Amino acid sequence: MVETQSTRSISASQLSLQGKTALVVGGSSGIGNAIAHGFQDSGARVAIAARTPAKVEAATQRLQELDPTARGYVIDAARPEEIDELVATAVTDFGHIDILVACQGMTILKPAEEVTPAEYDEVMQTNLRSVFFTCTRFGRHMLELGNGSIITIASLAAHRGWPLASIYAASKHGVAGLTKTLAAEWADRGVRVNAISPGFFMTELNQSKMSSKRKENALLRTPMGRFGQLDELVGAAIYLASPAAGFVTGTVLNVDGGYLASGI
Ligand SMILES: NC(=O)c1ccc[n+]([C@@H]2O[C@H](COP(=O)([O-])OP(=O)(O)OC[C@H]3O[C@@H](n4cnc5c(N)ncnc54)[C@H](OP(=O)(O)O)[C@@H]3O)[C@@H](O)[C@H]2O)c1
Repeated sequence: MVETQSTRSISASQLSLQGKTALVVGGSSGIGNAIAHGFQDSGARVAIAARTPAKVEAATQRLQELDPTARGYVIDAARPEEIDELVATAVTDFGHIDILVACQGMTILKPAEEVTPAEYDEVMQTNLRSVFFTCTRFGRHMLELGNGSIITIASLAAHRGWPLASIYAASKHGVAGLTKTLAAEWADRGVRVNAISPGFFMTELNQSKMSSKRKENALLRTPMGRFGQLDELVGAAIYLASPAAGFVTGTVLNVDGGYLASGI
């Protein structure tokens, strides 16, 4: 098709989030924070939620510089009752939540045979149980609206074995399975559910936990030969949240510098 001015403007408007309200759980730092700012730049009203009050406050203030209606909520998403309260408060504050990003996550790196039950529970509660209840509780609200886009954050560890990160890999395989299942369950009720699989991005989650050797291995296995920049993840989230992805649900979108494409 010959590109005309009108086809170009239709494409641009399909990527706009104008009139939408987005909530990013885990939006006080790293990937979630970058996505929250990207959504705001694309026209959405934005809220974030996370556990540490000082981080939530600082991140909210930065969002409010562009839009004073931005909100920050302090919650522990590992507690389903706090998610229920968050849904009620956010809907009271904004009227509707159209876009949810469940970005909360953590990791513990240690040999699988040394993992304790407490460590297992902490990672699974943060990365999978809390994501399950975040998606399903906000999903209820979106199903009532008959409209919504949910984005989960998977990982390369949702696709591959991950030495020293056995619980993390198990939880992220779970996130991918949950994403596809919710997508299939809700596809005919207006709610789309997709995942982003980031490659290596240096954040509070992994910067100090990965040894130099592990970082070196990660770079060697990433065909682009570098770590990702946070703003390189934002476009994928805007696309999945926007009307441009209206027929896209249940997909896991890799933003990984070619890692999963490469055989060696
Ligand atoms: N960085 C990477 O290379 C990479 C690669 C693949 C996937 N990921 C995934 O991307 C997501 C974001 O990680 P990140 O790298 O951006 O790390 P990050 O900067 O540590 O961000 C994690 C966010 O989640 C929040 N959080 C953690 N536990 C929570 C809970 N129970 N309730 C509410 N909020 C909680 C954190 O704030 P508080 O601690 O204050 O609550 C923070 O806002 C994670 O799911 C991670 O597994 C990251």
